[in-house]
Amino acid sequence: MSWLTWLIKPEPLPPANLSEQLKHWSSLLEPSSESPRLDAEILLKHVSGLSDTQLIVFDKEPLEKGIIKRVDDLVAARSHGSPIAYLTGWREFYSLNLKINQHVLIPRPETELLVDTALSLIQSMTSPRILDMGTGSGAIALAIASNAIHAELLATDVNEKALELAAENARLHHIESIKFLNSSWYSGLAEERFDLIVSNPPYIDPEDPHLSQGDVRFEPKQALIAADRGRADIIEITGHATDHLKPGGWIALEHGYDQGEFTRALLKSRGFSGLKTLKDLNRHERVTMGCYPQR
Ligand SMILES: C[S@@+](CC[C@H](N)C(=O)[O-])C[C@H]1O[C@@H](n2cnc3c(N)ncnc32)[C@H](O)[C@@H]1O
Repeated sequence: MSWLTWLIKPEPLPPANLSEQLKHWSSLLEPSSESPRLDAEILLKHVSGLSDTQLIVFDKEPLEKGIIKRVDDLVAARSHGSPIAYLTGWREFYSLNLKINQHVLIPRPETELLVDTALSLIQSMTSPRILDMGTGSGAIALAIASNAIHAELLATDVNEKALELAAENARLHHIESIKFLNSSWYSGLAEERFDLIVSNPPYIDPEDPHLSQGDVRFEPKQALIAADRGRADIIEITGHATDHLKPGGWIALEHGYDQGEFTRALLKSRGFSGLKTLKDLNRHERVTMGCYPQR
């Protein structure tokens, strides 16, 4: 190497600082994400362990190469559509931080309405027995259990991998009042009866075009779709509910925005009273409840 080449050899660039890196990752996510900056911040916090405050305080500091590489990889996966919850492995639901993986539905904010409904229905019961069918990550059962220490729960799913994750979430949150059972709807329950049945079953029409858009493309189809235009599982659950409810017990189901009238009609035909449908924050009919009358 001549002395001239040595003189003009460019200095390696100093590592980009945190703020510049975040800008870069946000710009990469812009074409595919509705919240590119937020996504980039979540992924960086996940990899680095930095808090929101530290992102601000250290914004002019360089980031370690290893951290940059790992966030680069996650940003690439996110730009191909992978949901943030599957990339970080976590999602908050009803103030509980839940472990999430590709075997379960990512818990939705609207499902918190079903938890609110369940908690208000059992408020005056002394030691309610509750059945959560299709528990997935365990979101509903865990949220109820952590807010109702007097309740005893059974959480079921037909997917063994989902049940393993739900049980792990229960351990993480030191919740011991939930039992887990692999069962296709009521098939594994024998004669058991409950004070309350809750479920957020699959209710999407297999032909729904939304299934090929956004995060749902990556979620298990078994958690999303139901035959008969999304109605088959609601029909199954309402159809046998009276065999598993105590007289005076309640059922509360989450359903599609256009399935409220249908769900009320099904429950009415099965003899339920006190029928009511609640709307979510977007003013969509979302949760229908009914009482199995005392004879
Ligand atoms: C819409 S996800 C709800 C998951 C979770 N409860 C929540 O709200 O986030 C529906 C769940 O029902 C389960 N499932 C589907 N078919 C089932 C069946 N035949 N019996 C029991 N569970 C079923 C799926 O595995 C999935 O976990």
